[in-house]
Amino acid sequence: MKVAVFNSKPYDKESFKRHHTEHLLSFFSPGLSEDTLPMAAGFDVVCCFVNDRVNAAVIEGLAELGVKLIALRCAGFNNVDLEAAKRCGLLVCRVPEYSPNTVAEHAVALILDLNRNIHRAFNRIRENDYSLQGLQGFEVNGKTVGVIGTGTIGYTFARIMKGFGCKVIAYDPQQNDRFKSVGDYVELEQLWAQSDIISLHCPLVASTYHLVNVNSIPLMKDRVMLINTSRGGLVDTPAVIEGLKSGKIGWLGLDVYEEEAGLFFENYSNRILTDDVFARLLTFPNVVVTGHQAFFSNEALETIAQTTLANIDAFAKGCLPEKNTVSL
Ligand code: NAI
Repeated sequence: MKVAVFNSKPYDKESFKRHHTEHLLSFFSPGLSEDTLPMAAGFDVVCCFVNDRVNAAVIEGLAELGVKLIALRCAGFNNVDLEAAKRCGLLVCRVPEYSPNTVAEHAVALILDLNRNIHRAFNRIRENDYSLQGLQGFEVNGKTVGVIGTGTIGYTFARIMKGFGCKVIAYDPQQNDRFKSVGDYVELEQLWAQSDIISLHCPLVASTYHLVNVNSIPLMKDRVMLINTSRGGLVDTPAVIEGLKSGKIGWLGLDVYEEEAGLFFENYSNRILTDDVFARLLTFPNVVVTGHQAFFSNEALETIAQTTLANIDAFAKGCLPEKNTVSL
């Protein structure tokens, strides 16, 4: 099969090239969108990433060009219009469990950076400033950690936090026994009220859009720590900024941002940052942002390439595994 790999970086190319495949892969730097749609001409498969805009117009265009499969090389699929894919007869597949440890460990890294002010200490030492005033932290041990979404990543994160000596509670409309071995399920309102640290691990769907908003923030503990390594749209950023300004939110760790498309994954160091909301976020000393890098480990890239190629292989043979297929 001829595969157009959109939004590809040198590291994507390297990880795919390490695997033998009969399929013909062409790597394109631009993401898939209405503007770049013509690049998919002549391909059977488009391979996309988190911020490619796979909306109805793009999907209709792909169908007209004869593309048959949208192979996502990520777990989330909120950027794909599944209704349009169904209507146009395009299959969508993804890599559901490439490395839960990679993302869960990144969420933990954000917590451990924030609670001990590591990012500020790093800057101070480079300035020859060894003073400690303002860097006082707190122990994670003994704190209550609220996990929203206890799937593969949420469970792994919960298990790690349990190991730190935390009390772990969670909210998930679909409870599972695996999580029950490390913590207790509670209602969402209880999770907001009881958690010292809240970490988001649910998908971005209509029911989770702006889950953290002007109504939920007041229900949280004063000086709560909020961590989002899931999807930017789970958080209403202006509401969180107000929470930070009032001190209600004590610490914020983000790997994702609602308006990250067109910003993350690129080097814009010679340009002016025009997103005023994002710029305001970066002014807070108690906010740490990484640019959607929670997935970015050797192990994860290896599995992503391997599973994506296996998905394409299975599709070609007409036996795409159901757990890797995304449908309505
Ligand atoms: P998963 O599908 O294994 O688990 C998601 C869980 O969220 C499920 O248990 C589901 O029942 C639950 N859920 C659904 N609706 C919910 C709601 N309204 N409230 C609470 N929980 C709800 O997914 P996985 O692999 O654990 O990934 C979670 C998310 O992490 C993905 O959707 C993706 O957006 C994000 N992600 C981020 C990465 C990054 O690099 N920052 C990398 C990989 C995934």
